[in-house]
Amino acid sequence: MKINHITQLNADSKVIVQSFLQDENFDGQLQKSCADYALNFDLVNQDFKAELKEFQIFHSANNQKVIYVGLGEKPNSLDIIKAFRTLFLKQKTKLPDGVTIDVQNLPNEWIEYAVIGSMLGGYDLDLYKTERKGTSPIFQKDGVLNILSSLENTNDIISRAKAIAKTQMQIFDLMNAPANKKTPQTLADWAVNSGKKFGYSVNILEKQQLKSQKLEALLAVGQGSEHPPVLIVMEYKSPEAKQKVGLVGKGVTFDTGGISIKSSTNMHLMKSDMGGAAAVLGTIELAAKLQLPVHLIGVIPACENAVDGKSFKPSDVIGSYSGKTIEIIDTDAEGRLILADGLNYLVKNYQPDTMIDLATLTGSCVATLGYHAAGLFTNNDELAQNLAKAGDQTGERLWRLPLWDIYKEDITSDVADVRNYSGKPMAGAISATKFLEVFTENHPNWAHLDIAGTAFGDIEFAPQRAGTAFGVRLLLEFLEKMV
Ligand code: BES
Ligand code: ZN
Ligand code: ZN
Repeated sequence: MKINHITQLNADSKVIVQSFLQDENFDGQLQKSCADYALNFDLVNQDFKAELKEFQIFHSANNQKVIYVGLGEKPNSLDIIKAFRTLFLKQKTKLPDGVTIDVQNLPNEWIEYAVIGSMLGGYDLDLYKTERKGTSPIFQKDGVLNILSSLENTNDIISRAKAIAKTQMQIFDLMNAPANKKTPQTLADWAVNSGKKFGYSVNILEKQQLKSQKLEALLAVGQGSEHPPVLIVMEYKSPEAKQKVGLVGKGVTFDTGGISIKSSTNMHLMKSDMGGAAAVLGTIELAAKLQLPVHLIGVIPACENAVDGKSFKPSDVIGSYSGKTIEIIDTDAEGRLILADGLNYLVKNYQPDTMIDLATLTGSCVATLGYHAAGLFTNNDELAQNLAKAGDQTGERLWRLPLWDIYKEDITSDVADVRNYSGKPMAGAISATKFLEVFTENHPNWAHLDIAGTAFGDIEFAPQRAGTAFGVRLLLEFLEKMV
């Protein structure tokens, strides 16, 4: 699909799409649009109310199809993306090879969201079907999407939107890939390729190096799998950077629970237990693509939590990169173990000014916040505020949960420095974060995001749950506001 900026309707405009907000200007805007596109305002007005997720198709006296999209009263950017994504997804087979989106009535920043949504509408989940649906004309190479806008820098907005949507779709692919097509090495290869393409450095620590550098917690979790663990270290540095931001992402390519094996109900969803890694990969790729004036370090401990004679076991006492010892109570609490090494590796080797980790860490967080918000944990009020604000802006909601020291009791061990689970099914998202905190060297500017409920969401674009790329637009917004 080619995306062009146009300032007047042209012959490619076989279908016209325009979106409307339910505000005091709605009637006037609709009236103007009906006049522009030869529609009967009174009839259109009876059917189309501009409610969020509504779309209505009209046929004009000029033999054009005009599709009106509702944006509701106060949409956030994700609502707008979703409105366009739904339209392009649902209408996919009916759209010809030329579509024009008239964005003249929208605020400038929304043009980006309209383009991202339209592109995401072309994303298919049927990668492994032997008979694929086949791409519809608009999403083929010669398909043309015109953006009708009087804004001079519309082309810049289009390029940015394309960059974001392309990375998001790559991240969807990574998230949706099944465990037999996705190993720790797959994540490493993805990072290496992306680094080459967009000009940032990637270093992969393989098993031997993990051993010599003593990333013993990561090694312990990965020891039951035939796919060895890796530590992926990425660095993007702009010459204008003032701040160093470190990102850590949980990269468990499949979580069986290990010897503390999970029940089989929904175990297949654990192919998405690398949602934190995916968010970090996507964010660094985009920062490099968009040349953000930041210095970013990404650290991804990646492994598979498998069941095997060699697997680590409950009661094991393992070491860690920090030197602290850990008593294993439950091998299904593996995310915090590999993050312990990832966080400590980051803080010791790079001393970032700000440190954020993302992980599909606990079922407890899903039980608390459902699929609609991720847990936000930090002792730094300013960081909490900036992250929550970024999330409100992008529609990736964050909700802060406490990190009081009283919860440390849950992870004290009789035999080792710390244990990986309290044994009680209470406040699990909080005690998991208290565990992580032990390995941050008291970093004053650290936040943990538990994205267990949001990374692989209940989304309207798929009958089953699928990858959302949660965290990518959020971190991009956070980084852009920071500089
Ligand atoms: N990967 C899971 C957390 C998870 C649950 C992610 C649901 C996405 C959806 C994690 O490794 C895990 O198994 N956590 C356990 C920890 C418990 C054994 C202390 C949990 O939350 O039940
Ligand atoms: Zn687990
Ligand atoms: Zn897990």
